[in-house]
Amino acid sequence: MQIFFKFFLILFCHKKNNSQSFYNENVIHLTALIFCQNQMYTIKKITANDTISVRHPVLRNGKPIESCHFDGDTLPSTHHFGIFIAKKLIGVISLFKSQHSFFQAENQIQIRGMAVLEEFQRKGLGKMLIRHCEQQLKDEADCLLWFNARENAGPFYEKLGYTISGTSFEIEDVGTHFVMYKYV
Ligand SMILES: CC(C)(COP(=O)(O)OP(=O)(O)OC[C@H]1O[C@@H](n2cnc3c(N)ncnc32)[C@H](O)[C@@H]1OP(=O)(O)O)[C@@H](O)C(=O)NCCC(=O)NCCS
Repeated sequence: MQIFFKFFLILFCHKKNNSQSFYNENVIHLTALIFCQNQMYTIKKITANDTISVRHPVLRNGKPIESCHFDGDTLPSTHHFGIFIAKKLIGVISLFKSQHSFFQAENQIQIRGMAVLEEFQRKGLGKMLIRHCEQQLKDEADCLLWFNARENAGPFYEKLGYTISGTSFEIEDVGTHFVMYKYV
């Protein structure tokens, strides 16, 4: 909570195209410049390939690089965002259009590949990435964000207002997870 008040959003520049739908390729994409604890961070849209330099060491450490590619990564309805310090990519998040049978919402979006490089964790960057995505989706009607949360990341998501649904389950080679969600 404290971190949230420590960063000061100094500028939002935006490129607005015809569509108001998040799922359209011509969606609004905000680039955020954020000043936090004497550092300048940028959040912007990145490609699926860009995410690998963070996904690999954080989420698939020691595993083949191919394991960092997710089904649907390059679909037009999938969006990837990165947080940068200078030109260095230090955190990533990906949004997939995907319906979960637990939920009824018309617009369901799955967060995948949420990761911050280890040396930059606990500085508020994960929170900035989630808030950035929520901001982008705030005009979508009946929109629900959900994801399979690693057990050890559950408290992070709970702090951001996400709720566990159902019971824990195992993902092979990764560990115990919960489905978590929030209406945005
Ligand atoms: C989980 C992760 C994305 C969080 O990003 P982060 O930049 O480290 O988190 P933040 O600094 O933005 O944390 C925001 C708040 O959550 C808390 N928090 C972060 N990670 C936490 C954790 N694992 N357990 C408990 N609290 C946590 C922070 O202390 C902070 O609390 P505050 O607002 O009271 O100060 C990052 O630690 C990470 O990449 N972890 C390894 C990969 C992973 O588990 N990814 C999630 C897959 S579902």
